[in-house]
Amino acid sequence: MTLLEIFPSLRSGMPSPRVDTTVWPCETHYDELGRITLGGVALADLADQYGTPAYVLDETEIRRRCRAYRKHFPEGEIVYAAKALLTKAVAGWIAEEGLSLDVCSGGELAVALAAGVDPARIVLHGSGKPFAELEAAVAAGVGRIVIDSLTEITLLSALVSRRQQVLLRLSPGIDVHGHPAVKTGVADQKFGFPLGSAQTAEAIERVLRQPALELVGFHCHLGSQIHDPDFYGEAVRRLVAEMARVRAEYGTVLTQLDLGGGHAVAYRSGDAELNLYELADIVEDALDAACARNRFPRPRITLEPGRAIVARAGVTLYRVMTVKRIEGGRTFVIVDGGMNDNPRVALYGARYDAVVANRHPTGPFMTATVAGRYCEAGDILAPDVRLPAGLRPGEILAVPCTGAYHHSLASTYNGVGRPPLIAVREGHTRPLVRRETPADLLSRDLG
Ligand code: LLP
Repeated sequence: MTLLEIFPSLRSGMPSPRVDTTVWPCETHYDELGRITLGGVALADLADQYGTPAYVLDETEIRRRCRAYRKHFPEGEIVYAAKALLTKAVAGWIAEEGLSLDVCSGGELAVALAAGVDPARIVLHGSGKPFAELEAAVAAGVGRIVIDSLTEITLLSALVSRRQQVLLRLSPGIDVHGHPAVKTGVADQKFGFPLGSAQTAEAIERVLRQPALELVGFHCHLGSQIHDPDFYGEAVRRLVAEMARVRAEYGTVLTQLDLGGGHAVAYRSGDAELNLYELADIVEDALDAACARNRFPRPRITLEPGRAIVARAGVTLYRVMTVKRIEGGRTFVIVDGGMNDNPRVALYGARYDAVVANRHPTGPFMTATVAGRYCEAGDILAPDVRLPAGLRPGEILAVPCTGAYHHSLASTYNGVGRPPLIAVREGHTRPLVRRETPADLLSRDLG
């Protein structure tokens, strides 16, 4: 026990540790007991009340990010990519902030509709949309469907009774050098039609021949964690040229250009993120130049950020189960979560920070590897992080920047239910999703 823990009042004379708001939500502070607070709520109290592991979500931070996008793209359309994180409450906040929503399954569509999102503002994606899901989307009146294959053109033509707006997904041949699992702008991958290919020409022709389908524009999605805005400028140049070609060949003027998402966020201090100001500037310049060169009217730009809206709003809480020092090896801090609630480390080699949340760390530090509870040696959350040398079982670790692709990627491996999702805002908490229990798991098992 340190003096500060015995006499918390001594703390008032101490400088608070710095919180890096490129990684943590803006409203992250330390309270008078030295505990980390988010949206005015101490993370340690949340852990006590809701148990661990738990996902915490700062509503204000999500709204702030939505507003930043709308400010930088006042004439564009911002479509939140629901695959990053979707619950009814999140869909509601997004809609209230004036964003549209991209869904990629019947399940996401159902959540969006249950949240009261205007179907006209929903965009449907997917590389293999099942017929029943296309049917549900058309019946619900979704605004746009992004066509990803020739088969889909046939299915949709048979399905729609009113005219349906569609976009065609093209791969513009831009290599953003990302992890192979999330590289989508190049020709040889499963999404869309390669720009300039015979298949693309056939797809365009077939859509234009269907009176029930209204081709309004093109879509592309270049990949994930893109921090260089020039890639988006290049996509604008290539796709506007293709729009001009369509006008020349068929006399049809396409009016929408959807540049997808993939905007990089910083997971750890010092990581590069996509600068929205620069992105807006580069996209504007590319549009000006490409439209002038092709004498083509400016299409409306659509952006589909997912991660950049919600990643930084999320923090995951874990309880330390044990600290294990391997002789001649690493020191492992083993927590009560792991690859089930954060598979991104195992899947993409993602790197995270972990900090102690229930006290102001004083005294010496150690370098440790934060590992999970699951039965795989690869169940690591954060290798080589600095943690207090005196870390004890029962203490709370917080991992920042876990709002995107954590809740939505979680699994129940080893029979462990998925964590709850708790929203915080101005000192109040609101559970959005409850913890999954053994009874939930048993309820699907029909015996
Ligand atoms: N639009 C389309 C068509 C997409 O496929 C995606 C993501 C987005 C927008 C949003 O991308 P964002 O802005 O969130 O990067 N599980 C991976 C990410 C897979 C992204 C798939 N598509 C991860 O955890 O990094």
